Amino acid sequence: MNRLTSLDEVRERVWRRLSKAADKPGHPLRLLTFGTVAADTPQLRTVVLREAVPAARRLAFHSDRRSQKIEHIRTNNRASWLGWDPETGEQVRLRGAATVHRDDEGADAMWREEAPRSLDVYRRTAVPGTPLDAPDDALPAAVKDAPITRADVAEGRTHFAVVRTIIDEIGWLHLHADGHYRARFTYDADAAAFEGTWIVP
Ligand SMILES: Cc1cc2nc3c(=O)[nH]c(=O)nc-3n(C[C@H](O)[C@H](O)[C@H](O)COP(=O)(O)O)c2cc1C
Repeated sequence: MNRLTSLDEVRERVWRRLSKAADKPGHPLRLLTFGTVAADTPQLRTVVLREAVPAARRLAFHSDRRSQKIEHIRTNNRASWLGWDPETGEQVRLRGAATVHRDDEGADAMWREEAPRSLDVYRRTAVPGTPLDAPDDALPAAVKDAPITRADVAEGRTHFAVVRTIIDEIGWLHLHADGHYRARFTYDADAAAFEGTWIVP
């Protein structure tokens, strides 16, 4: 990958690649680290990027509404995303305000559009994080047999949520043979645009 010299190009590239990743399993930015603020320590976990909407500055993933991260967001809505592409040498960090969507049109649409195979985990009746006597996925038999149908996963809708983040800061670092370099973009609400600057890596 060439060195980029335009901040606009960097910003557009970040959003373009995130949009592509949200549609393409196997894309290097498809699996991202999502961070929440817990009481006294940052909490990180891997999630599947399901949506990236540049015009709305929005990223989203699916989750179990009973999971810990949902509680963290309820207490403190600040959230971070992190991605690393080893092929291009790019690190992307995004920060923003998270919201949890349970029974609104946004969550309904994502539930409808998703293949049943990706929704099987929401059929768990036990709450994520509950201690078990032995290793087990805690899934009912109906979603263990392939092919899984929409009817098999339907009961999981009550556990399903979509977590969105409206991004207000983007950090980008490119490791390059000719020299590492880095950019930061901060959303300016008055200008309704990201303001970018190069920064020391
Ligand atoms: C490859 C991979 C993809 C994952 N995708 C998601 C996801 O899209 N949504 C999600 O809630 N958890 C996902 N998980 C599980 C989370 O990393 C985490 O273990 C779980 O959500 C519980 O997190 P919490 O207790 O902090 O809420 C994924 C884990 C892996 C390893």
